[in-house]
Amino acid sequence: MVAPERWLKSWQEGRIGFHRDEVHPDLIRHEAEFLGGGPHRVLVPLAGKTVDLAWLASRGHQVTAVELSPLAAQAFHREQGIDAVPQAAGDHELWRSQNLDYLVGDCFHLQRPAAGPFTRVWDRAAMVALDPERRARYLAHLRYLAPGAQILLNVLTYPEGAREGPPHSIPPSEVLAAYPDATLLHAAEDAGAGWVERTWLATVPAASPG
Ligand SMILES: C[S@@+](CC[C@H](N)C(=O)[O-])C[C@H]1O[C@@H](n2cnc3c(N)ncnc32)[C@H](O)[C@@H]1O
Repeated sequence: MVAPERWLKSWQEGRIGFHRDEVHPDLIRHEAEFLGGGPHRVLVPLAGKTVDLAWLASRGHQVTAVELSPLAAQAFHREQGIDAVPQAAGDHELWRSQNLDYLVGDCFHLQRPAAGPFTRVWDRAAMVALDPERRARYLAHLRYLAPGAQILLNVLTYPEGAREGPPHSIPPSEVLAAYPDATLLHAAEDAGAGWVERTWLATVPAASPG
């Protein structure tokens, strides 16, 4: 089964163990470094129903979420008590509320906003959700959507072969290959899960010509 269908099925079956009920602590902890000098145009790719969207919007940022599953969109808006009427928007369905555009559809079809590229990207469980081939496409697409943006990147690393992703293991060498200026902000080992969670701050490189 191809990955997008697998994600849609996970939402249908309520298998969303990745979801957190609280704002991610590293977003709060590193707000000043990541979001200082705003407001920013913040992209949250592969957003699920993360409460981080509402938190970012409440801080005055212009937030864009993109997520495959319409069930995630419905759950997010219901749980956050946000009224939004879905409307067609090209390849996506747009749920627009005050300063949040929640787009249902494939992140690979997302176009650069008319207002200009995104200036911040919050990647929590997005890079790790994609297999190596899709990860390469994702990184290329981010370079198109958000060249020069600051990215706060939260990934997991576990010994090779220890489990079958997602989540996929993203070692520091892969982070640095994608984002050469990446700085490690936080690392925490979860012995029970058998992985290390790391949060990095980096610049999204500009798209290479051609
Ligand atoms: C591991 S979850 C992370 C969700 C969210 N970032 C969080 O922290 O709770 C990955 C999400 O990406 C979505 N997804 C997977 N492939 C996608 C794609 N190509 N375009 C948009 N969303 C996608 C899945 O439906 C799933 O909700």
